[in-house]
Amino acid sequence: MLVAASLLIGALIGCETAPHSNSGATLKAAYKGRFYVGVAINRTIAMGAAVRADNVNRNTEQIIKDTAVVTAQYNQISPENDLKWQMIHPSEGASGYVFGPADAYVDFGESNHMYLVGHTLVWHGQTPNWVFRGTNMPPGETNASIAAAPVGTNAPGTRGYGRGFGFSGPRASREELLERMRDHIHTVVGRYKGKIKVWDVVNEALADGGTNLLRNSPWLQIIGPDYIAKAFEYAHEADPDAILRYNDYSLENAAKRQKLITLIKSLQAQHVPVMAIGSQTHVSVSSPSFEQEDAVLTDLETLGLPIHITELDVNGAQGGQSNTSGDVASNAATTQGGLVTDADRKLADAYAGLFRAFIKHDHYVKVVTLWGVNDGVSWRRRGHPLLFDAADNPKPAFDAVIRAATKQEAKSR
Ligand code: G3I
Repeated sequence: MLVAASLLIGALIGCETAPHSNSGATLKAAYKGRFYVGVAINRTIAMGAAVRADNVNRNTEQIIKDTAVVTAQYNQISPENDLKWQMIHPSEGASGYVFGPADAYVDFGESNHMYLVGHTLVWHGQTPNWVFRGTNMPPGETNASIAAAPVGTNAPGTRGYGRGFGFSGPRASREELLERMRDHIHTVVGRYKGKIKVWDVVNEALADGGTNLLRNSPWLQIIGPDYIAKAFEYAHEADPDAILRYNDYSLENAAKRQKLITLIKSLQAQHVPVMAIGSQTHVSVSSPSFEQEDAVLTDLETLGLPIHITELDVNGAQGGQSNTSGDVASNAATTQGGLVTDADRKLADAYAGLFRAFIKHDHYVKVVTLWGVNDGVSWRRRGHPLLFDAADNPKPAFDAVIRAATKQEAKSR
């Protein structure tokens, strides 16, 4: 029924003039033969305008226009939220899965002939507490030892049963959690086998600051560092043909990038099937420049894997000019202070520089995904970070991205 509603809207949209720049150019056509240009879509787009089940406040007319931008401009989609554990597997057990929105996402992509990404299987965010609950004390620990553990190490922290847990009380054993992870990955990847071509298997496992390689997440605390390898192994078992991606943010930062390289080299040495690097690229109008992004990609290429730009947006808010984090908790601070002066021009320049770098590295860059269809639905909407405004009009940044491709075409002729 919902899928039917979505298809009906798709058919209606097909009759309209799709939004585009004055020249009629589209992103997918401009970059054809180089890389997919994609977009993260929310539930209203995947399920059709009849659905009001998201934190996105769009009316029917807006949703129809949003959907028209997606189908006209992009040839790849990612699900902004609906394949995350909390959404697709909110409760324990075989009956705890909710597949409706994810099925609609896949149907939408297939009926529009788009390359489908799955986001994300194993993450510290948007994972329900039941996943980590159990009957066990952390190995070798008591309440007193937990309280005494030093902050800033991989030892459990001072809150309840370790940092990052949204509850206090006994937790799952390593074996229980591995079994839950395996069941989740096999069920979700297995359901969309052959349809979803690329999976974000592990998301944001690296520690942001300090010397620890890995984030002190519940996954790390309960299973240990091999949770990453296990997740990739399970995903590979479930769909041997899927491209399995490790995805993280702030890879523009040299120290974090070095951690990524260390992690991936170690996985490669263990023959873990990690097949692509996802660089989220939540950046700002101040940086990275073309030269900086060129250097980022040059470093990442040393791993010898395809690079996917997975969550691109460019923050134009004054508060977010030195921030590349994907952390939703700190988002309000990074979109404070109004927009930078001459925001539209700076945004266009920033996007032009980034796409010039992606073009230069297109022997490695295979997918570029914008994190949202327009400024009105972006997680960073106050920073006006995307190529279309809230009314779905292309911004100067859109034209700059198109021009970056056509300039390159002219040069190579
Ligand atoms: O589903 C509930 C709904 O029931 C409730 O009424 C509503 C009230 O606010 O919230 C809804 O959940 C929201 C969810 O998006 C789905 O719409 C959450 O509050 C909201 O925090 C959540 O934000 C998402 C965020 O990830 C969560 O971490 C953003 O939309 C999404 O863009 C963002 O995406 C992440 C990537 O997955 C990973 N990398 C960083 C990136 C940006 O944070």
